[in-house]
Amino acid sequence: MKNLSFPGLPRVLIIDDEEGVREGMRGLLQHEGLHVETATNAEDGVRRLEQRAVDIVFLDLNLPGADGLSMLSRLRRGSPPADIVILTGYGTVANTVEAMRKGATDVIEKPFTQDRILAVVRRCLETRQLKSELTWLQDRVRELTATELVGLSPRIREVQTRIDQVAHAPDTTVLVTGQSGTGKELVARCIHERSARRHGPFVAINCAALTESLLEAELFGYEPGAFTGASKDGKDGLFAIASGGTLFLDEIGEMEPTLQAKLLRVLQERTCRRVGGVHDIPVDVRIVASTNRDLRQMVQQQRFREDLYYRLAVMTVHVPTLAERAEDIPLLSHFFLDQIGRQMGKALSGFTEEAMETLCEYRWPGNVRELRNAIEHACIICPSGMIDEVHLPSFTGGAPDGSDEIARNTITIDGKDRSIRALESQLVAKVLDDTQWNISRAAAILGINRTTLYNKIRVYSLGKRPLRAVAKVEA
Ligand SMILES: Nc1ncnc2c1ncn2[C@@H]1O[C@H](COP(=O)(O)OP(=O)(O)OP(=O)(O)O)[C@@H](O)[C@H]1O
Ligand SMILES: [Mg+2]
Repeated sequence: MKNLSFPGLPRVLIIDDEEGVREGMRGLLQHEGLHVETATNAEDGVRRLEQRAVDIVFLDLNLPGADGLSMLSRLRRGSPPADIVILTGYGTVANTVEAMRKGATDVIEKPFTQDRILAVVRRCLETRQLKSELTWLQDRVRELTATELVGLSPRIREVQTRIDQVAHAPDTTVLVTGQSGTGKELVARCIHERSARRHGPFVAINCAALTESLLEAELFGYEPGAFTGASKDGKDGLFAIASGGTLFLDEIGEMEPTLQAKLLRVLQERTCRRVGGVHDIPVDVRIVASTNRDLRQMVQQQRFREDLYYRLAVMTVHVPTLAERAEDIPLLSHFFLDQIGRQMGKALSGFTEEAMETLCEYRWPGNVRELRNAIEHACIICPSGMIDEVHLPSFTGGAPDGSDEIARNTITIDGKDRSIRALESQLVAKVLDDTQWNISRAAAILGINRTTLYNKIRVYSLGKRPLRAVAKVEA
C-alpha cells in the first residue's frame, strides 16, 4: 500500500467467525498501514459499519446467525458504499454469482494467500480513489456550469423555495407551469440539479415536436421490427435512458389522449413496456412536466385526462411572467450581458441609463427568453463599451407598456389640415402627454427610437403642455 496515497487511513472491516482468519488478516493489513476492525457475526458487522464508514468489508459467507449473503445489501448502505469482498470456504458458483449480483466487488476462496488479499485491497482502494476523484471533478464541472435561476424579486424567491422543496422529494412528479419563455425548462433543470438524482441524466423531450407514434417510440423504446422502419436492433426509450435521473416532458398539454393513458400507467406502475415488447421494465426516473396551457381548463374540456392531471400536479411550480417581476430586469440584463459578452469575447461594460430605462419599461410578452434575445442582439450590434438604446432591437413583438391605454383613445383630426404631418404631430403629442413625457415609453409606443422622437418634437415644436383640443373629423 505504500505507493498509494490516501487522505486518511483506509478502513477495513473483517467479518468472520474464525479467529485465525480475523487475526491473521488484521496483522497483515495493519502492517500495510490500514485501520482494521473485526466482527464475529453479520449483525455486529452492520452495527460497526453504521457507527463508522469503512472502505472495504471482508465478509465470510458462512456465519453463525444471519448469513453473510443476506446481510450484503445492508453492508452496502454507506455513501459511497463500502466494497464488499466475499470470503468463502465453499466456493460454489451459485454463491459467488449471487454475491456478485448483490453488489460484491470480489470473491476470495479460502484458503487464501496473503498476496491475494493484498492484491484485492490494492485494486479496491485504487478504484475508490478514482471514483472519488471523478465525483469531485463532476461536482466542480456542475458548479461551473450550474444552471442559475437569476432573480431577487419576491416572486422568483417563491419559485426558488418551491424548487428546493421539490428537490428534496426526488421521486415526486412535478408540473411546471408558466407562459412561454418564463424559464420553465430552467426550473426543471434546477430541480434535477438540486435533487439526489443530480448524478443521473437530465433528459428533455418536447411532446409537441413529434407525432404520437414517434413520441411513443421515443419514450418507451421499441423491440426489433416493432413497426415498419424500426431498427432491427430495437431501441431504448427515454424512460430507460434517463434511468436514475430526471425526464423532462415539455409541452405535456400537446400529448395525445392515448399516449396520456400510457404515461399514466407508467407513473402508477413505475414500469414501462417497449413498443412491441412483452416485458415490463422497471422505471427509475422523476418526471417533471411543463406546460404553458391551462391544463385544468383542458381537463374540463376533456382534452386532457383528469387522472393524469392530478398525478402530474402532485407538486406544481408556477413561474411568473417577467412583467410580474420587472424588478429583476436589471439583474437579468447584466447576467445575460456578462454571459453572452463572454461567449462572444467582447468587452461590454454595461448599459447606458437610457438603455436600461427602455429595458425596464418594456412589457416583455416573450418573457425572459425575449429579454435574453434582446441582449444578444445588442451584444452583436454594440462594438464595445456600454450598450445604448440604439443597440437594442425595436420592440415590435408585443404590446409595449401603456399601448392599450392609448389604443382605447381615438385620435381625431382637425377638419382643415388632414395632412399626415398634422396627424403625426397630434399623435406624437398625445402619446407624450399620455406617458407624462417619458421619452423611452413614448418612443416604444410610437415604434420609433428616441432620437427620431426628439427630432419630431423639434420639427413639430412640441412642448410639455396639455394636448390641444381636437376637433372631430368633419365629413
Ligand atoms: N431566471 C432566469 N435566470 C437566468 N436565465 C433565465 C431565467 N429564466 C429564463 N432564463 C433563460 O431564458 C431562456 C428561456 O428559458 P426556458 O427555455 O427555460 O423557458 P420556457 O418557459 O421553457 O419557455 P417555452 O415555454 O417557450 O419553452 C433560456 O435561455 C433560459 O436559460
Ligand atoms: Mg421550454
